[in-house]
Amino acid sequence: MYKYLNLTIATTVFAVGKYTRFLRDFLETAEQHYMVGFKVHYYIFTDQPKEVPEVALAPGRELSVILVPKFNRWQEISLRRMEIIQTAIEERIHKEADYIYCLDVDMKFHNRWGPEVLGSLVAALHPWFYHSNREIFTYERRPSSTAYIPIEQGDFYYMAAAFGGRIEDVHKLTKTCRENLEVDKSIDLEAVWQEESHFNWYLLYRKPTKLLSPEYMWDDFKKGQPSEIKIIRFSAIIKNNAEVREYA
Ligand code: UDP
Ligand code: GAL
Ligand code: MN
Repeated sequence: MYKYLNLTIATTVFAVGKYTRFLRDFLETAEQHYMVGFKVHYYIFTDQPKEVPEVALAPGRELSVILVPKFNRWQEISLRRMEIIQTAIEERIHKEADYIYCLDVDMKFHNRWGPEVLGSLVAALHPWFYHSNREIFTYERRPSSTAYIPIEQGDFYYMAAAFGGRIEDVHKLTKTCRENLEVDKSIDLEAVWQEESHFNWYLLYRKPTKLLSPEYMWDDFKKGQPSEIKIIRFSAIIKNNAEVREYA
């Protein structure tokens, strides 16, 4: 049904500091499994354009490199993605694509991640919390934060390592998260899981139109494959955070 619409799927990937090392596997596995047969435009945000590997892309797929600053704390590198994606949508992506998916780079594809993920606003269930009650969710619990979610509220705990949808919907999400991150910052407050906390807050009030099962957002740290997970499609790799992250 989507094939004939000639869609372009923008795909944002950040690789700042030592995270450039993850780009090759990410891109090579994406070319095998991600939106195969569709036009994909990768936007690689990095502080080191020379470290972006040359990976052969299938016809109709392209890659742009966008220079970004390297903030000195890993938390800030992660959370500033909201503002950088918002700006990139306004400056160019809104003219260049129909959908946008925003993905972590410390990930590999193992199986199909195809047009079944397309929707207006799409979020993935976090692989560590899909069996948990909401009290267990690692939402921001301090009322002084704009990301605050009371203990008796919340639908799901979403993982911010993969989200997307129509450009307009993702633009609203990134803009609101960016604004709320700034409000918190003005009182020197950083939410417990940075932009992921704001992302979860946003989706409590503006429900996603499609949920991806943890098959679409797995974590290699989770040993064993539960019987309900039939196919691991996309998974966070095991990385040594102390070695790859930036600490101020
Ligand atoms: N990131 C980066 N450089 C850093 C820290 C983070 O490029 O020094 C980007 C990268 O795209 C990464 C994402 O921010 O996948 C989120 O950070 P990370 O994967 O470390 O968070 P986790 O998924 O482990 O919570
Ligand atoms: C971890 C994950 C983090 C964050 C956290 C939330 O498993 O690595 O990125 O999502 O869960 O509790
Ligand atoms: Mn990650």
